[in-house]
Amino acid sequence: MKVSRALTKPSDPVVKVWDVAYIRFQKPDLGSMERYLRDFGLHLSARTADTIYMRGAGPTHHIYIAERGRRSQYLGLGFAAADRTDLERIATVPGASKIHASPEPGGGQRVVLQDPSGFRVDVVWGMEELPELPIRPPLPVNGPKHKVRVNRPQQTLIGPAGVYRLGHVVLQSLEFFKTAAWYMNNFGLVPSDVLLLENHEPAVVFLRCNRGRVLTDHHTLVVSSGIQNALDHCAFEVPDLDAVANGAQWLQHQGWRQSWGVGRHVLGSQIFDYQHDPFGTTMEHFADGDVFDEDYATGFHRLDKQGLYQWGPDLPKSFGAPSITPAKAVRLLTALAGRGEASLARLSNLKKAMEAPARPWLGRSRRGTRARWPSTS
Ligand SMILES: [Fe+2]
Repeated sequence: MKVSRALTKPSDPVVKVWDVAYIRFQKPDLGSMERYLRDFGLHLSARTADTIYMRGAGPTHHIYIAERGRRSQYLGLGFAAADRTDLERIATVPGASKIHASPEPGGGQRVVLQDPSGFRVDVVWGMEELPELPIRPPLPVNGPKHKVRVNRPQQTLIGPAGVYRLGHVVLQSLEFFKTAAWYMNNFGLVPSDVLLLENHEPAVVFLRCNRGRVLTDHHTLVVSSGIQNALDHCAFEVPDLDAVANGAQWLQHQGWRQSWGVGRHVLGSQIFDYQHDPFGTTMEHFADGDVFDEDYATGFHRLDKQGLYQWGPDLPKSFGAPSITPAKAVRLLTALAGRGEASLARLSNLKKAMEAPARPWLGRSRRGTRARWPSTS
């Protein structure tokens, strides 16, 4: 089966990155992007003539970059290197730049690469760290037998969600195996969970950083088999459920458009809410995600809508669905002609997996059959 051949923990990666540091976009209107990002919960860190750099409350100098350009598009991401010497190793990867001083705000040294889809990947070390901004801790929650808040009403929250950091990036790829292997073998990312099609072929892999005994998120990068090379979404960590829900309401109150939420995922366990930026890019707030160390073994699960969320509104049909422009159609047909990994059978399997009812037990319950809690794997 392809699972064991292509998606096992890399035995000798070039480096093991520490975390994702930032994501980079091109956007046609930086003014509306800055307004949206402030409503989303980010803060301006630096501005140049044609670029804005936004930060969270955490110490990373910037976690979101928007460069002014003709159209909205994902450009790439930056990984934080675990050590300066990692830059020397990653600079040996075919196509990588030499180590150089970053000319961008925050400085540091970096190596720039291009992933198999043509997206830029920076590996940075020594970027300036900023004093953290105030962010509230998770709200204390009273349970039936466990009261932690006494003589103290719950806070009323109004305003943008407090974003602390960039948590993960999800990519769609026409060449799923090649792209996943490239990130795993170069950056030491390891599979936490793999989603399989009906014929057992992997279609989505949740990758986490390999920090040994130091805890890391369930996923820092997700590679998903798709009909185009594109960003699916990027996700930012906020304190808790109340921050996710309040953040969603705040964004809609400011006139922005929600995509999907609030709900809780299955793999990674995050409470989530997805919103559209002014140009249709999907951005997620998440809280209460799983963290693992090196001991967590890879899990394998069937890909279906049911496995995407434990609770929440039904998944909108538009979620993750790409718009097919003539250029994208040409790329897809090229891939189907045998130059990529996509095939009609594979795409049809993908479509079938995502068209199955999200929560069939709810349907059974409505028809009078006893509802049963489903297996999530
Ligand atoms: Fe996500």
